[in-house]
Amino acid sequence: MNSVAKQHQRVLSGMRPTGRLHLGHYHGVLKNWIQLQHEYECFFFVADWHALTTEYENPGKIADSSWDMVVDWLAAGVNPGSAKMFIQSWVPEHAELLLLLSMSTPLGWLERVPTYKDQQEKLKEKDLATYGFLGYPLLQSADILIYRAGQVPVGEDQVVHVELTREVARRFNHLYGREPDFEERAEAAIKKMGKKAAKLYNSVRKSYQEEGDQEALETGRALLEDQQNITLSDRERLFGYLEGAGKIILPEPQALLTKASKMPGLDGQKMSKSYGNTISLRDDPKDVEAKIRTMPTDTNRVRRTDPGDPARCPVWQLHEVYSSDEVRSWVVEGCKSAGIGCIDCKGPVIDAVLEELKPIQERAREYEQDINLVKNIVKEGSEQARDEARDTLNEVREAMGLSYR
Ligand code: TRP
Ligand code: SF4
Repeated sequence: MNSVAKQHQRVLSGMRPTGRLHLGHYHGVLKNWIQLQHEYECFFFVADWHALTTEYENPGKIADSSWDMVVDWLAAGVNPGSAKMFIQSWVPEHAELLLLLSMSTPLGWLERVPTYKDQQEKLKEKDLATYGFLGYPLLQSADILIYRAGQVPVGEDQVVHVELTREVARRFNHLYGREPDFEERAEAAIKKMGKKAAKLYNSVRKSYQEEGDQEALETGRALLEDQQNITLSDRERLFGYLEGAGKIILPEPQALLTKASKMPGLDGQKMSKSYGNTISLRDDPKDVEAKIRTMPTDTNRVRRTDPGDPARCPVWQLHEVYSSDEVRSWVVEGCKSAGIGCIDCKGPVIDAVLEELKPIQERAREYEQDINLVKNIVKEGSEQARDEARDTLNEVREAMGLSYR
C-alpha cells in the first residue's frame, strides 16, 4: 500500500530527447500526460542524461532534440500552467541522489534488470559496457524519488525500472528512516494539525499500537490524507509514527502503465522512427496527405475491381483509431465488395489526421517563432522542480548524517 493519498500524489515522467515527435508519441504518451496534468501535480522532464548513457560518443544532437521535443509537448497541449516541464541536467540534485543511492544499491540488482542485457544486445554497434549504462535504471530511480512521486506513467518496458525504484526506496527507508529526533518531530507535526485532528490522531494511534485495531489505523490514515496544512514530510513522518515505524523518507512509487500505443505506422507496424513509418506532428499537411495516399493496402486488391479484406490492410488500422462506427461499416462493406476504391477509403483517414494535427501545428508555429518563450517555460519549470528536489535532498542528507557543517 502506498503511504501517500492519491490526491497528494505527484506524477513524474521523463522522455529521452529524440527530437520531433510523431503520432505514436501523441497517442501513446502525450494524450495521457495531458489528461494527468488536470488530476495531479505533474512533473515532465527531458531525460538528457539518459540520452548520454547511449549517445556519449555523439552528444551534439541532444540540445536541438530537447528543444524540438519540448515544442512538441507544448504544441500537443501539455500546459505549463498545470505541469512543470524541465530538463534533467538543469536539476543537478538528481545526480547527487543517484550518487547517494548508489552506495547502498547491490550491483546484482542492476545486472539483473532485463533491459541491461537486452539493450546491449540490441545496440551492438555501441560499447555499452559502461558504468553509466549499467547505472541508468538507478538514475531513473533518483529521477523519481527526488520528487517523491507517487505515480510514474511508463510503457511496459519501463515497469521493471519502477519496481527497482521501489526496492531502492524500501532499502533506503530501512537503512536511514530512523531520525534521531523522530519522535519529537512527529509530536511537533501532530500539533500542527490542530486540536481536534491531533486528538483523534493520538487516540487512533494508541488503539492501533496497543490493541492492533485495524479500523483505527484506517481512520488515522484517512485523517492524514485529509490534512491540508502539513508538509509532505510531516505527513510521511506521521504515517510512520501512526504505525510505530520510522519515517518514510522516500515513498515507493507506483507504475502507471500506459497501454501500448495502438497507433500503427504507415506500413501497419508500430509507428517508430527506426521503421521509417511515421507521421510527425509537424509534418506539412501536404506530406501527411501524400504519406497516407501512398500507404500500402491489402495486396490482394491489385485492381479496383478486386475485393479486399480490411484485416489485411494497414489503412484499416488507422480507421480503427480515427473512424466512427459508421465510417468503419462503410469501409468493411465497400472493401469486401469492391464497392469503394482504396483512394476513397483513405479519404476519411486523411481528413481525420489533418484535423487532429491542425491545432497542434498552429500551436507549434507559435512556439517555433518564439523559442525564447519555450526556454523560459523550461527555465521556470526547472527552477520549480529544483525547489522540490532540494527539499528531498536535504532530508536525504540529514537522514544519512550528511547535514553537518
Ligand atoms: N528511461 C525512460 C525511457 O527510456 C525515460 C525516463 C528517465 C523516465 N527517467 C524517468 C521515465 C523517470 C519515467 C520516470 O523511456
Ligand atoms: Fe484497405 Fe480500404 Fe483498400 Fe480495403 S478499401 S484494401 S481497407 S485501403
